[in-house]
Amino acid sequence: MKALVLAGGSGTRLRPITHTSAKQLVPVANKPVLFYGLEAIAAAGITEVGLVVGGTQAEIEAVVGDGSAFGLQVTYLRQEAPLGLAHGVLIAREFLGDDDFVMYLGDNFIVGGINGLVERFARARPAAQVMLTRVGDPRRFGVAELDASGRVVGLEEKPVRPRSDLALVGVYLFSPAVHAAVAELKPSWRGELEITDAIQWLIEAGLRVDSSVISGYWKDTGNVTDMLEVNRLVLESLDARADGRVDGASELIGRVVVEPGASVERSRVVGPAIIGAGARVRDSYVGPYTSIGAGCVITESEIEYSIVLPRASIDGVGRIEASLIGHDVEVTPAPHLPRAHRLVLGDHSKVQIRS
Ligand code: G1P
Repeated sequence: MKALVLAGGSGTRLRPITHTSAKQLVPVANKPVLFYGLEAIAAAGITEVGLVVGGTQAEIEAVVGDGSAFGLQVTYLRQEAPLGLAHGVLIAREFLGDDDFVMYLGDNFIVGGINGLVERFARARPAAQVMLTRVGDPRRFGVAELDASGRVVGLEEKPVRPRSDLALVGVYLFSPAVHAAVAELKPSWRGELEITDAIQWLIEAGLRVDSSVISGYWKDTGNVTDMLEVNRLVLESLDARADGRVDGASELIGRVVVEPGASVERSRVVGPAIIGAGARVRDSYVGPYTSIGAGCVITESEIEYSIVLPRASIDGVGRIEASLIGHDVEVTPAPHLPRAHRLVLGDHSKVQIRS
């Protein structure tokens, strides 16, 4: 079995973070979301991975390389434009050959890996097997309708009137039967070749499509609340480790990771929290469910339940909560007078000010 990992999309839903970096590299507990997928694939015993990339290829290649760090052999497949998930399968035709494959969307986060799913598929050998989860707003997803035995009887992409609340999660298992379906597809209303339509084609051709319902799922809905929540979830399973420098005037409480080269001075860190490599936390409080990225500088501030991306600095600003702060961002106090906020915000930024 091979794996096809799709990482070609542009990430409009996670702006402004994705203005400057690939959405698949958005970190959860200081690790790119894509890495969790690659690790799950390796853990399921798959080694040959086709990685479909687009405009952010260089950035993704710089961190994934040839895949050997994950125990994988990665082949890069260039998708010239984001023409849909099924288009990803189309351009991977030669790489996939006649093997079964798992298709994994690089911006999806699944708790608990995929071993069970892969084993189930190998045993039952349906034409396709999909993963579903219950969501609050199915209109943003592909939606499945099941019969009483759990077999998929119909699928619809981003339906206006969803027939269920079961959304397609971004992990699919396919037999080579899917290639005939993909070859027949016409672009959808959003101009994409939809994998949802390909699976519907398999159903209409009388082939079997199995499903399993999971919990513990996140995707880039553009919702910072969701991102903070998945960060919290992953930090929950953190094992404490202090590889950096923690001075005698500091206190680490609960499960705290201090990565190599990081320093904590005259500060209090309450876990679960992670302080990234080379970051400096000085005269500050870092509260539960916070990920401080590599090279950040936090001085005379308090921060809790937040994600701070690499190299940002937060200096003397009181308390920050439930925030997502991008790469190289600087947060500092304004001069005492005039009493004014001074903002330099990128496109699509969101700021909540308590005045
Ligand atoms: C895609 C699929 C959709 C699925 C979702 C899961 O949506 O088309 O069926 O539910 O991934 O992440 P997209 O991210 O292209 O909007």
